[in-house]
Amino acid sequence: MNILFIGDIVGKPGRYALQQHLSTLKDQYKADLTIINGENAAHGKGLTKKLYNQFIEWGADAVTLGNHAWDKREIFDFIDDANRLIRPGNYPEGTPGKGLQFIKAKQKNVAVINLMGRTFMNPLDDPFQVIDSLIDEAKKKTNLIFVDFHAEATSEKQAMGWYLDGKVSTVVGTHTHIQTSDERILTQGTGYITDVGMTGAYDSILGMEKESIIRKFKTGLPARFEVPETERTVLSGVTVSIDEKTGKTKSIKRILINADHINFN
Ligand SMILES: [Fe+2]
Repeated sequence: MNILFIGDIVGKPGRYALQQHLSTLKDQYKADLTIINGENAAHGKGLTKKLYNQFIEWGADAVTLGNHAWDKREIFDFIDDANRLIRPGNYPEGTPGKGLQFIKAKQKNVAVINLMGRTFMNPLDDPFQVIDSLIDEAKKKTNLIFVDFHAEATSEKQAMGWYLDGKVSTVVGTHTHIQTSDERILTQGTGYITDVGMTGAYDSILGMEKESIIRKFKTGLPARFEVPETERTVLSGVTVSIDEKTGKTKSIKRILINADHINFN
């Protein structure tokens, strides 16, 4: 089972890069299942129904979210009907949407889970406790479990990776928008990368216009961040191959496409 995961799509340049590369990447890596993180898709913050449907149309099988899940208010109108959309599972009971969705690939169920970290982020329920019950729920149907851990701190992400080693197929980190080069298979067979990186404007700061961010650092004054208008993009992703019998990851490869890196593999 090959799973292709594309990191945080940021605004229009991110959507442009995704549309440009997705079908080629799916062919190249023989993807059976494609997951994208879409929490920054609508002008850098949030996701609209139109964009969610567009991602599915372009070939995504599942869309994960994060701390910006609720920034476009219309998400509340469609999240409960969107069975390929996964929001962080450690929001309190009663939050709309789901933190785990079963997505079919090769006639098998794959459990796709989204969780959010708490270090340097808004506090939520403990992801380490919540993941235990999500895994119990997943295991009733499948041993193919893919986790997008949307978190800021590298330490928290490594801790989650090791905590889940041998319990899930793969743990990928998202949210920092900077790809880390530590992709590996942990000792009990869980594929892991601290952060997949983002898909969006290449000459930017985390996908946003650099000038206003530099100004904010220089002045300390509030600033409005905008997504730049550009077709010079970066696409960041990861592809994993999972043993369908054991649920363990057999290989993990990093994908990075920009003006300086023409893909890794
Ligand atoms: Fe985020």
